Amino acid sequence: GKVAVVCGGNSAEREVSLMSGEGVLNALLSKGVDAHHFDPAEKPLTALQAEGFTRAFLILHGPFGEDGTVQGALEVMGIPYTGCGVLASAVGMDKLRTKLLWRALSLPIPEFALLDDDSDFDAIETSLGLPLFVKPATEGSSIGVTKVKNSGELKAAYLAAKKYDRVVIAEQFIGGGEYTASVLGDTVLPFVKIEPATEFYDYEAKYFRDDTVYRCPCGLSESQEAEIAALVKKAFWAIGGKSWGRVDFLMDEAGKAYLLEANTAPGMTSHSLFPMAAKQLGIAYEDVVVRILETTLE
Ligand code: DAL
Ligand code: MG
Repeated sequence: GKVAVVCGGNSAEREVSLMSGEGVLNALLSKGVDAHHFDPAEKPLTALQAEGFTRAFLILHGPFGEDGTVQGALEVMGIPYTGCGVLASAVGMDKLRTKLLWRALSLPIPEFALLDDDSDFDAIETSLGLPLFVKPATEGSSIGVTKVKNSGELKAAYLAAKKYDRVVIAEQFIGGGEYTASVLGDTVLPFVKIEPATEFYDYEAKYFRDDTVYRCPCGLSESQEAEIAALVKKAFWAIGGKSWGRVDFLMDEAGKAYLLEANTAPGMTSHSLFPMAAKQLGIAYEDVVVRILETTLE
């Protein structure tokens, strides 16, 4: 069949998605798959049918692509696609609803508060403590995210995040390290620990800087990693996840993990974490891509 590598789109993560898409397309071509670039910002999704595509590799990031909208359209067109279905995609794009589900299942998450124009910013600063993170509920790649370090800066951070979403979250800082767990089918791949040279793992650190340190193996003991992998499976299951995805988490100094968010179409750029985790298991980038494509048939 003919495979569409669906990338680009119109979200704030468009550029990241184009980088991911290029990697995925080249990988599929190198494996002899009849694959083509398809950007929904250039033509309507219905062209997938008109152009005879039989499967879609979805590597759109952010709203209108990673959030269930495109998944729904493909369901209606009867075109099998990689990654999560409509529900998991929609929930995974929404950090607030993800947190509410995880909290309902007693899975560990950082303390958080919702911000709006009427919030008592001083009180929230006091209750969550400084530093803290402010983020729009439905963006990726740290777009619109601020680390608030000083008292009195919370409102400005809120206003910056509000440009991207009307739901804005203030989140407690957990200081023992940032990690990510990649899920491929039923397998949790080795964790990657992220040590940014900047204040936090922001857009620049994610895609452009070469001084971010990635540790894989991540330095946790085998039993600790296994325990957290079980937690990650529960967290991915809770949002209805399947096929592939990535769950990000933080550790505190005492070695307790706190779930941050789920990514249902993780980045596949040369700097991205998912292919890094697979490499640790000896799985080459091209083979991960083929494996993800195969999940459309399961
Ligand atoms: N949102 C970016 C693409 C990621 O999670 O990798
Ligand atoms: Mg994300």
